[in-house]
Amino acid sequence: MSETPRIKHLRERKAKAHLGGGKERIEAQHQRGRLTARERIDLLLDKGSFREVDSFVVHRTHDFDLDKQKYPSDSVVTGWGTIEGRLVYVFSQDFTVFGGSLGEVHAEKICKIMEMAMKNGAPVIGLNDSGGARIQEGVVSLGGYSDIFLRNTMASGVVPQISAIMGPCAGGAVYSPALTDFIFMVRNSSYMFVTGPDVVKAVTHEEVSFEDLGGASVHSEKSGVCHVAADSEADTLYLIRKMLGYLPQNNMEDAPFVETGDDPLRMDESLDAIVPEDANKPYDIKDVIRPIVDNGQFFEIHENYAMNVVVGFARLGGHSVGIIANQPAVLAGVLDIDASEKAARFIRFCDSFNLPIITFEDVPGFLPGTVQEHGGIIRSGAKLLYAYCEATVPKLTVITRKAYGGAYCVMSSKHIRGDFNVAWPTAEIAVMGPDGAVNIVFRKELEKADDPVKRKAELVEEYRAKFANPYVAAERGYIDDVIEPKETRPRLINALEMLQNKRDSNPAKKHGNIPL
Ligand code: HXC
Repeated sequence: MSETPRIKHLRERKAKAHLGGGKERIEAQHQRGRLTARERIDLLLDKGSFREVDSFVVHRTHDFDLDKQKYPSDSVVTGWGTIEGRLVYVFSQDFTVFGGSLGEVHAEKICKIMEMAMKNGAPVIGLNDSGGARIQEGVVSLGGYSDIFLRNTMASGVVPQISAIMGPCAGGAVYSPALTDFIFMVRNSSYMFVTGPDVVKAVTHEEVSFEDLGGASVHSEKSGVCHVAADSEADTLYLIRKMLGYLPQNNMEDAPFVETGDDPLRMDESLDAIVPEDANKPYDIKDVIRPIVDNGQFFEIHENYAMNVVVGFARLGGHSVGIIANQPAVLAGVLDIDASEKAARFIRFCDSFNLPIITFEDVPGFLPGTVQEHGGIIRSGAKLLYAYCEATVPKLTVITRKAYGGAYCVMSSKHIRGDFNVAWPTAEIAVMGPDGAVNIVFRKELEKADDPVKRKAELVEEYRAKFANPYVAAERGYIDDVIEPKETRPRLINALEMLQNKRDSNPAKKHGNIPL
């Protein structure tokens, strides 16, 4: 059929919107080693699934001669599409239009799709690449940010919110991603900071590069602001697709069941010998996780941050689960401030979105010292405790070795509503390790002993035999069973299925007061 004048006009207008800030700026964006807003959406979504809205929207500002520069779509591309056939809403900031800066209509476009996402129960993915508040629009752009912050907060716990930082994200603009559930960053190409290197220099006389101040490495290793760092934009978008496969669309749904082809009854003999005889020797908890989960696939979150605890998503018998595991290979798996907060936030995400929580426990306790005490380990440990206590999703715990002291209580113990708590024969469930316990309880006796070293060794052995095992806890029913390590996978899958219709709730309240 021939193109009517009206259809021609429509097509021309849409083509103009597609060009964003124009060919030169697209070229400049590519020169920076970055993709455009629309190219990113094409990589993120299923082929041909993107449906754009608001491509005719233009800004309404006259100051600074801005009325002479109007770009249909303004500086953000918004709409919906699918990932593996499942609906998602997306906004992608367009750096080629006013540096992706956020003004009135940019904010309105984002708010529109966020509201649709909440009404229709699907995740929101934000691709961030922006010079921040549009300077020419002044306070109106600050109002726009605030409108988004409010919606981020309202959507929290209703639909998953995921942010990818693919260029600059500076000033108050960082707080929208920070309010979302997961932040992905591109290495050597993205940065986030509240104040940039120039301001830092003026205020503190510190000289620091963009990368060292707020690059992906800094945020994925030191601050923990970034949950997943990837080497390229394509990798980042691929990882978002992959992670979404583990998540439900909203808080009213369960995550999708996926037939993974891995036998639920499969046992792994390697697990029987994985915990070293010497309780002070480390082993890698990921060598425990991988043989247990379906096809060894574990999607780790915060892989390089607070590595003494490991968190991430996996499948067990096709069911999506969140895994929290102490890591004996890093700082002996001790809980410190960062590890407690990392685990607490992940637990709250899982509980918000109906993902059962599997805990692998081997923890000598909380990290001692002035740095930790003065930094508020009491408050941070309480966050972790609160998160576990509050969670009503199925909670399954496997104690592989140490479950000492307060950390025993915290790590999803029976007492805080653990549903299925088992231990391996190598478990040591006690107030503290044998050495420390003997030093305290038998201090006077050791001072008087003829051969204190020999006597201490005897007492340590006695303590170990009496307390450093899983059977005292098992006799009291604090753990439900002591199992052979190789049978962990079938036992966890069986328990997950047993707990499939679990119903539990917390008292009615406006909201709790987690120790922030
Ligand atoms: C309007 C902006 C802009 C902004 C960039 N541009 N930032 N326009 N408002 N905030 C425009 C530039 O004028 C330029 O337009 C185009 O975008 C590309 O910018 P360049 O500077 O040429 O790009 P580059 O060299 O890559 O530098 C990128 C940048 C720099 C580092 C982001 O543009 C920059 O520092 N911008 C200002 C950042 C900033 O201070 N923002 C305010 C933060 S405070 P032309 O026409 O030449 O292509 C904030 C408060 C939020 O955001 C509070 C929320 C509560």
